[in-house]
Parts: sequence; C-alpha cells; structure tokens
Amino acid sequence: MSQVPIFYPRYQSGLNPETENDFNRFYYGDNVAALKELCLDPAIKGKVKLIYIDPPYSTGQAFIGSNYENAYMDRFKNDEEFLDFLEKRLVLLHELLAFDGSIYLHIDTKIGHYAKILMDKIFGKENYRNEITRIKCNPKNFFRKAYGNVKDVIFFYSKTKPSGNDPMVWNDYRRPLTDIEIAKQFPKIDKNGRRYATTPLHAKGETIKGPTGQPWKGRKPPKGRHWRYPPEELTRLDEAGLIEWSATCNPRKIIYADENAGKKIQDVWVFKDKGFENSMYPTEKNREMLDQIILQSSNEGDTVLDCFAGCGTTLLSSEKHGRRWIGIDNSRVALFATLKNLFSNRVSSRFQIYYPELSAASSDLVITLHCINKVEPRKNLFDKQKDIIEVHITEIKTAKKYQFNNPGLIFSAFKQDDSYLIHNETIDYKNGNYSVSIHKSDAKKDIFLIVFDIHGNECIVNISSNIFNNSNAPENSFFT
Ligand SMILES: C[S@@+](CC[C@H](N)C(=O)[O-])C[C@H]1O[C@@H](n2cnc3c(N)ncnc32)[C@H](O)[C@@H]1O
Repeated sequence: MSQVPIFYPRYQSGLNPETENDFNRFYYGDNVAALKELCLDPAIKGKVKLIYIDPPYSTGQAFIGSNYENAYMDRFKNDEEFLDFLEKRLVLLHELLAFDGSIYLHIDTKIGHYAKILMDKIFGKENYRNEITRIKCNPKNFFRKAYGNVKDVIFFYSKTKPSGNDPMVWNDYRRPLTDIEIAKQFPKIDKNGRRYATTPLHAKGETIKGPTGQPWKGRKPPKGRHWRYPPEELTRLDEAGLIEWSATCNPRKIIYADENAGKKIQDVWVFKDKGFENSMYPTEKNREMLDQIILQSSNEGDTVLDCFAGCGTTLLSSEKHGRRWIGIDNSRVALFATLKNLFSNRVSSRFQIYYPELSAASSDLVITLHCINKVEPRKNLFDKQKDIIEVHITEIKTAKKYQFNNPGLIFSAFKQDDSYLIHNETIDYKNGNYSVSIHKSDAKKDIFLIVFDIHGNECIVNISSNIFNNSNAPENSFFT
C-alpha cells in the first residue's frame, strides 16, 4: 500500500493542524481510497468504536438533490457488481473497527440478505447481534400485486464474540416513555405532583419457612402467596414513604414515573424519514435513529465513522453527543449538504475537509478576506442598516505562482435554507481586489460559505466566521 497520502486537507474549521491532531474529518472522495488511508493511520486503525453505513442499495436509480443536481448514481451492472463494491469497503471497515466496537449496515430488503452473507463472511457469523427492522415511512399507494413496503433493515455486528465477558460497548440505552405512555402507566399523582403507579407487595407461591412467608406488621401474605421482600425491607420502604395503604389496609409499592429508566429497545424501530420534499439530501436518514444508535453503541470521545455520509446525519448526531467523527462521501452535493448541516447547526468542534490531491494542488494557498461593512461579533450579518456586505479578498498567497490578475475565479455560496445562493458566477476583480457582494434579500441567515475554484483547485471559505471574528486575517486558512 502506498504511503503517499491521497487526501489533503483543504478546509479547516478554526484549527491549527500543526499542533492539534484531535479533530473531526470529512473526506470528499471515493471511500476505498479514504478507508485505505485511514488504515495507515495508527491513531485510527482498530480504534473506531462505531460504524454506521447506509450505502447505495443497487436500486438502479439516480438520486437528485433538492436543487435538481445529481446527488449520486445508484447504478451497478448487476447485484454481483454491487456486492463486490460493498465487500471491498466492508473488509477495510473491519480493519478500522475497535475490538469493542460495532457496525450497523443499513440496507433495503431486496438486497439485504445477500449483504448479510457478506457481513457473516467479513465480521463473522458469531458476531451477528441483530437484524433490526426499521419502519421507514407511512404506507403509500401502490399498484403492484404485493404487500406494501414500509421497512428496511439494519444488520448489527460486533467485532468480537458476544459470549463470556462481552467487551462490546453497549450502554443499555432505553427509550424514554412518551407522555401518553406515562399517563397510562402512572395514573396517580401524589401531593407533590409526582406521577406514580402501585404494584402488589406479594407474589405467587407460599414460603413455608423463610422470612418472606412471615407476618409483617401483624399481617401474613395472602394465601398461596409470599412477600416480595423480607420484613426489614418492607419496613424500610414503608418508612421511606414508598408504600401506599389501601382503605382495606392492603399495602402496595409506589413506583414513580420520573424514576422510570425507559423502555428497553427491541429489534423493530419506527423512525420515519422526512421524505424527499423536506430533506436536505435525497436519501437522508432520520437523525433520531442515529441518536439512538450512537447513544447505545458509543461513549463520549469515541470515534464514529460513516463512509457513505450523505448529508452528514451520522456526523451531526455524533457531534451532538460529544463523539469524534469521520465522514466520507464522493458526492459534491453530499459534501455541501454536510457543510450546510454543520454550519447551520453551529457545530463548534474542529474539523478538516480532505480533498483528493488535484493536479496543481501541491502548494499551500492562503486567502485573506477583508469585510467592508464590519459586523460586530455574534451579531447577525445584516443587523446593520446596510443592505450589502462586501467581502474583499485582499490577498492570495501561494507557494506556486498562479495567474490571479484576471477575473478567473468561479465561486458558489450558499445560505442556510437553500442550497446555493450564487453559483458558478465570475467574481469581480477591481484594483487588485476580488470582491463578493451579498445582498440582504439573498440571505435570511448569517451563514455563508464561498467556494472558490482557483485554476481547478477548490477551496472553501466560511465568510460568516471570518466576519464574526471581526478580523481581516481569516481564522480558516486553506491549503491545496
Ligand atoms: C444512501 S446515501 C447515504 C445517506 C446518508 N445516510 C444520509 O443520512 O444523508 C449513500 C451515499 O453514498 C455515497 N457514495 C456512493 N458510492 C460512494 C463511494 N464509492 N465513495 C464514497 N461515497 C459513496 C453517495 O454519494 C451517497 O451520498
């Protein structure tokens, strides 16, 4: 395997890569290449605690993004070619997974069982934990002679065997009860307003000699039954106010709703996706489902990997729960959807975006921005009366000589709630400065990324963070 890196950092969010190595990453490129590179990194290989993947499913479809761009093609010659594609990735993922880690493979029901055979082969039949049925949508109208399809599946495997001292990270995460479930299961309310239910203090079966068959407070358990606890424990519960006495002096144990640990999770999940109309990405998955997987199978500080990242659902959820994340995707639409997601959710962690090396990309490039209408830090970009923010690029430094003295920069920018604000337009070049004007009417939110394409080298500028930092020298530098 080559030691020469294929991927280079192109954008970093507020981090100094020379002194810091604890950062999140997004690789924009083919995942085999990126996974191979990660396998060469001793800080990552065998250290990834949780992998979630949602690959193409060999549906033959082309997936179009919300701006009618081609997000990605799910087209393979046949299922064999698809399974070969998947196998190559699974083998590398197996190498990256920690001994106490686990992997979730999300797939549809048509190809799923062939994919399971691959999972058995690569992760080991003995490491299979569950096939989870996921209810993905409401029933739809359809005219085929078949039952409606509202589910897909998730295969869950660990790196090591579930027997004996099982090392797999498993937090016994429980689903909190809904308000309706709480009201139904805990119908009573005490004088402090706490919801509670009561359960009998005796159970079936007589104890002849033991303490649970003895009288407590002068009463024996009913015929054919025994106390659930020995008399000392019953007394302790009573003194703690955890026993309710009925009008006929029948004692029952009090159980409070706010002490309920939640429901144990079963292998049928209802996490419906938002649907194309409301999604940022055509095959975006339900974020709460990812929250559940992450809370169940990783701990704070653990590394979570998704090498079919799409719009970054796994990455966002990892970020929310304090996990480190690595995302990979080779779709430009996915990259920008992920960036949009990260910025609009005000992700504060440090991350880098890696691009595959481009032809002229061996030298570093630093762009210095100057904002004409200065905005106070943390204020909305358009709080000031002015309608236009002008951002001047005052300096472009490169180790290599590029010809910058012509209007050759193509840029795109996007705002939070729409994919592209401006796309593929020539940037102004006047008096040695490139400048970009963003109109108030174009932007509802204060998040802008500008993507420059300088002679085939793409670089991303987070204008809002530069402006908020009130600095001429951007916090974010760009390396190609
Ligand atoms: C089903 S989508 C994932 C959606 C994602 N779970 C989400 O919530 O947004 C599959 C993704 O795999 C990506 N993909 C397909 N082949 C790839 C490859 N060889 N390398 C990297 N990404 C790839 C596609 O671009 C697409 O974004």
